[in-house]
Amino acid sequence: ASVTLIGVPLEEGSGRGGCSMGPAALRIAGIAATLTELGYRITDRGDLRPAPAEDLAPMAGAKNLQTVGAFCRAIEQATFEAAAQGSVPVLLGGDHSLSMGSVSGMARYARTLGRPLFVLWLDAHADFNSPETSPSGNMHGMPVAYFCGQAEFAPILDAARPLVDTTRVYQVGIRSVDVEERRLIAKHNVTVFDMRAIDEEGIGSIVRRILSHVENEDGLLHVSLDVDFLDPDVAPGVGTTVPGGATFREAHLIMEMLHDSKRVSALDIVELNPFLDDRGRSARIMVDLASSLFGKKILDRPTRPA
Ligand code: ARG
Ligand code: MN
Ligand code: MN
Ligand code: MN
Repeated sequence: ASVTLIGVPLEEGSGRGGCSMGPAALRIAGIAATLTELGYRITDRGDLRPAPAEDLAPMAGAKNLQTVGAFCRAIEQATFEAAAQGSVPVLLGGDHSLSMGSVSGMARYARTLGRPLFVLWLDAHADFNSPETSPSGNMHGMPVAYFCGQAEFAPILDAARPLVDTTRVYQVGIRSVDVEERRLIAKHNVTVFDMRAIDEEGIGSIVRRILSHVENEDGLLHVSLDVDFLDPDVAPGVGTTVPGGATFREAHLIMEMLHDSKRVSALDIVELNPFLDDRGRSARIMVDLASSLFGKKILDRPTRPA
């Protein structure tokens, strides 16, 4: 099996500096060596250079549209190419606006197979704003609305690109939703498992339910992991911390179940801000979670006597 690492030194979607150092931190934390050890053939494409985007005029409510758009064009193409070559693209972010590109690239790839694309959004935030609804204007709060066709800008990507059906988007870990966003995710039937759902139902049962939907429709699964999905005590290296997040054990279990499902076709690791991190701790945790998603096991189960 093969994995393509795609560095995205993008921070202009986030409203503060630091995420552009994310790809470097993930590489220093050993992402390539860890996956190589698990038996994968690794191609590291290095850091993407933004595509031309002089045609993108500034837009009210969408800060740094031209820079974000330029990166997302390059990301869409790189993600599609990696997947079309039979590799699993792993996006090393970079802020979460990069998922406009990566998920759109995977939607294009899924269409060539005639199969549906599902998205598992692991995040404190719903990221379902548009330039009209966003309280901040930061584009990292808009990617889900964008790849579902609910936020349009001056054309970043082809207006006729394949979109993700909102009923195939699963959000887990959510605990910060803006007023308009709340209305939109309800209107579009995005399935949200917020922190209360995790506490009441347990993460294992939630992930099983999501994976059975993917299984039933023979779908591809794009996993988008925002550092702030985790509790800030676990992973402090992110600009948008929200208390009450997922534990390391919950995140770890999700990754192990995702590996067992054999459904994961792409992974985004986003919002890591090394400037805010504590001696590389969050970077190492993200690499650790990625390695579980790609098959690292504590033991070869079953291990208990019958
Ligand atoms: N909802 C807020 C906004 O639109 C925060 C978004 C945070 N998103 C993120 N990817 N960290 O500005
Ligand atoms: Mn996010
Ligand atoms: Mn977030
Ligand atoms: Mn369905």
